[in-house]
Amino acid sequence: MNVLVLNGPNLNRLGTREPDIYGSTTHDDLVDLCKRTAAVLGMDVAVRQTNHEGEMVEWLHEAADAEWPVVLNAAAWTHYSIAVRDACAQLTAPLIEVHLSNVYQREEFRHHSMISAVATGVIAGLGADGYALALRWMAKHLE
Ligand code: DQA
Repeated sequence: MNVLVLNGPNLNRLGTREPDIYGSTTHDDLVDLCKRTAAVLGMDVAVRQTNHEGEMVEWLHEAADAEWPVVLNAAAWTHYSIAVRDACAQLTAPLIEVHLSNVYQREEFRHHSMISAVATGVIAGLGADGYALALRWMAKHLE
């Protein structure tokens, strides 16, 4: 089974970006965690990050066409991108929305997600472990 893990804007800056909120885990660490988790679960995972909305939309189209499950941290796009949401709505396999931080403890503008209504489930506030949990759910529910 192929699972696509997609990360949106500024997540390449993990490790140096607002460490009080996002901790010291880097994007490379996140990729490593996803790959190690996937290996244990016997699944193939690809982890991608972009700061360009159109590129994210095209990756979601690719996932829709291939019927791949997706773990998505759309970062700031979560809160306002109708384009990313519309691309998510085309997925036929499960979509798990992940946030490193607990967005509900933060600014009001982070309390609304464009994605949640079209996601299978949402994980927020568990740091990088949220990605591993999402992959475990995929492994359990997809065969
Ligand atoms: C985030 C939360 C978003 O509000 C923020 O814009 C991000 C990261 C998270 O993982 O906690 O860039 O998605």
